[in-house]
Amino acid sequence: MKKLKIGICGWGNVATGLYKTLEDNRIQIESNSNTQIDIVVIGARRDNPKCDPKNITIERDIFDVLNHDIDVLVELIGGVEVARELILKSVNKGINVVTANKAVLFHHGDEIFEKANLNNVKVLFESSVCAGTPIIKLLTEELSANKVTKIAGMLNGTSNFILSNMEEGSDFKPTLELAQKEGYAEPDPTFDIEGLDAAHKIGILSSLAFGTPLPPNDFYIEGISNIKKIDFKYAKEMGYTVKHLAVTKLNEDQIELRAHPVLIKINSYLANLKSVRNGIEVETDLLGTLHIAGSGAGQESTASGVISDLVHLANSNDNFSEKNSKSKNKLINFLSLSFQYYFYIEAEDVPGVMALITSQFAKKKIGIESIVQKENLKNNMVPIVIITDLFVEKDHKDLLQTLKKLDSVDAVRSIRIELD
Ligand SMILES: NC(=O)c1ccc[n+]([C@@H]2O[C@H](COP(=O)([O-])OP(=O)(O)OC[C@H]3O[C@@H](n4cnc5c(N)ncnc54)[C@H](OP(=O)(O)O)[C@@H]3O)[C@@H](O)[C@H]2O)c1
Repeated sequence: MKKLKIGICGWGNVATGLYKTLEDNRIQIESNSNTQIDIVVIGARRDNPKCDPKNITIERDIFDVLNHDIDVLVELIGGVEVARELILKSVNKGINVVTANKAVLFHHGDEIFEKANLNNVKVLFESSVCAGTPIIKLLTEELSANKVTKIAGMLNGTSNFILSNMEEGSDFKPTLELAQKEGYAEPDPTFDIEGLDAAHKIGILSSLAFGTPLPPNDFYIEGISNIKKIDFKYAKEMGYTVKHLAVTKLNEDQIELRAHPVLIKINSYLANLKSVRNGIEVETDLLGTLHIAGSGAGQESTASGVISDLVHLANSNDNFSEKNSKSKNKLINFLSLSFQYYFYIEAEDVPGVMALITSQFAKKKIGIESIVQKENLKNNMVPIVIITDLFVEKDHKDLLQTLKKLDSVDAVRSIRIELD
């Protein structure tokens, strides 16, 4: 049986989940993987009342974990700068690292992997994207014979929980409150609902699939806080639903990278993943389109991903960092991408208003696929729903400004349509 001595830094939700899983599933892990994983030391600046580490050595300064005889440092403190320092110290000492921390990889990934390569150690990070749902090793190992052309995923469980509930008729605010009550959303939910968490994850996947840098150059990130319940009703009437999608895509020799709400076909695979589930679609040349879905957060799921990295380390003999050295690809300027759009426009119900609105589209030579005037609201306002033909993002940005300035228009919002 192979043996692996590990030191864990951080003693929160994921670290205690890892400890419990290693205890509870020890026999299963050992018989499945022929690997014995021993926790030698834990770096915890304070005790955690939810978990007693029994007689394992505790270091109050997490950096002291590196002074022990360990094969792997498991970084579970989260955050960016201290985590970067800890990982780099470990790598410089020749100690492999397993981390679940997407933020540190998003901001300092290239530096970390470069230093790991220089020191012939590995930095593995399966749990950093969708927790234990296996996407990292899928991309780096199982699909290595394939040319990946697109990865699109619902990578944030909180956003998917909220949108799934809104699809069933709830409003945004009470659904967010419910997510917080159920423990699916943080007390400050900004990171999740404004799309940043999903952006970090797609940044990491894009780096693996297409060699985009970590940190990536600026890319388009929009969250779900402007989506309204009524959008689901109108989207459904046209065969769509609303999801938050993070996308990286090979577009000739440049890369599309973006994270924002989209209308997607209601019968598509991703549309049918509800609640906190994460789901990813990977387009490849040899296997066609692959689907993967699972729990994207939580103690057990994250422990599953961390343990898969540990087993991988125990089984591998080579001395290279897991992050490949793909040639760097340039990101496409988001404003040059084209989409079809859903527009929701609330306008005064006065003669000529439809003509006024459609003329704004015509001025930019934007084709309209469908336009429907919905039932009147209070205050003599009428909702108008438009689906456009494909047109370029730069014109979309200008058109939104123009429409918002019209005296007879009270509210405008738009959602991009993700085509197959
Ligand atoms: N939770 C999930 O479902 C999930 C899923 C996938 C990935 N992850 C990632 O896993 C990592 C850990 O998440 P978590 O949910 O376990 O977080 P957590 O419950 O907040 O635990 C973080 C732990 O690290 C300690 N810590 C933080 N900063 C430290 C510092 N500067 N020095 C020493 N100790 C420090 C904290 O100590 P104190 O208690 O003293 O603050 C706590 O013990 C994060 O990178 C997260 O993104 C989490």
